[in-house]
Amino acid sequence: MPQPPTKEPETSKASGTVAPVKSAPLTAPVFFADSVASVSLDEECHAFVDRDGEFVETMCCDYGFRSGVSRMYTGESDGQIPYNAFQLAWRNFQNELRSLRQSFRFDDFAAVAEANPPRGALGKAAYGLGQAVVDGIGALDRALEKNKVLEPLRPRPMTVNMSDDDQAVKLINNCAEIRTKLRQLKLSNQAVWDREHTREAAGQGVETPWLIKGAYLALCLLLDVLFNNRPIQRFWFLETVARMPYFSYISMLHLYESFGWWRAGAELRKIHFAEEWNELHHLQIMESLGGDQLWFDRFAAQHAAIVYYWILLGLYFFSPRLAYNFSELIEAHAVDTYGEFVDANEEMLKSLPPPLVAAVYYRSSDLYMFDTFQTSQPLRNPRRPKCASLYDVFCNIRDDEMEHVKTMAACQDESVKMDIAARREDTTRIGL
Ligand SMILES: [Fe+2]
Ligand SMILES: [Fe+2]
Repeated sequence: MPQPPTKEPETSKASGTVAPVKSAPLTAPVFFADSVASVSLDEECHAFVDRDGEFVETMCCDYGFRSGVSRMYTGESDGQIPYNAFQLAWRNFQNELRSLRQSFRFDDFAAVAEANPPRGALGKAAYGLGQAVVDGIGALDRALEKNKVLEPLRPRPMTVNMSDDDQAVKLINNCAEIRTKLRQLKLSNQAVWDREHTREAAGQGVETPWLIKGAYLALCLLLDVLFNNRPIQRFWFLETVARMPYFSYISMLHLYESFGWWRAGAELRKIHFAEEWNELHHLQIMESLGGDQLWFDRFAAQHAAIVYYWILLGLYFFSPRLAYNFSELIEAHAVDTYGEFVDANEEMLKSLPPPLVAAVYYRSSDLYMFDTFQTSQPLRNPRRPKCASLYDVFCNIRDDEMEHVKTMAACQDESVKMDIAARREDTTRIGL
């Protein structure tokens, strides 16, 4: 149950309020010369007053490909009804085609190469071949554009006419500084594996059949290769696919209810939706930090997500227990990965503010969804994490993942039934 605010905020009558505090007279997006990442400055910089009336300083810039209307809590678009599927598909195709062309014409792949310089003769040869492909496709695109088959591709603006508005200059300098810090964040694949092995040696490993373990190891290896030295992009990929199990479980439980076969899963549907809602916020946090900027990363993550969704539907069809087991493995891996990340980057993360979407999720008054997914946590003693810096944000995400591990384990041994009963009793007590 939401906690009442202890004192009235000074700047707003309602707690958990998002309010514009200053306007940025710049046109968006703005691209930094050292990166393909853009920042959105077309909207006003937001301030957030949390449920205790405390002012939370949040990031003014959103570095995501899907910023603006695609980010929750930043405008009037939340709850907007979608266009029809043909219009949506066409718009998406146009956006992604432009982005794909830009990725070759302006060599987005250089950012990946810069983070992972080639090693040895074989590495150099592979990079040379890759560069030739990028140059070749770029030349083909220019030829198609010249012959009017493709629309002219506007160059990305690399600098901004900042006029002499002091506020605008300050804002863009602040965004550039944060961007530079985000690029310095580190994650060692080996350190993550070491954590996992230490956990297993301490008896906290997840018992799983070899087939499931094999699929899990293949996925982890893919993540290590694709996202080496690119932690925010790795997290964005992970969070994109992390929602899929919950979508799958809800779909299957819904199907069984529609067939009239099984209704005892209704409470589970509610929990899985709250888990998916939690992963959606993790995803938006990674997007706002720039995790979805590269066309190639989006292509890989979204195709992987669709495939993963269908695989889990099949797995749940034959064995719900195995499907939950696979999710437990993945969630435990997420705990290790985020745990390593916060420990390795503590100082830097503490110097950065949280994105607005994180502040709203963790610090607003409406915590119904947040409480719903933490089935082993008594409602009398709920988790109420702070969110004053990016360090807090990543600690919260790590702890959320741990809650997912517990719930996935409880879904396998059916102790989730007792958790649901205990929480129902808690709710009654609070209601009295
Ligand atoms: Fe997550
Ligand atoms: Fe997760």
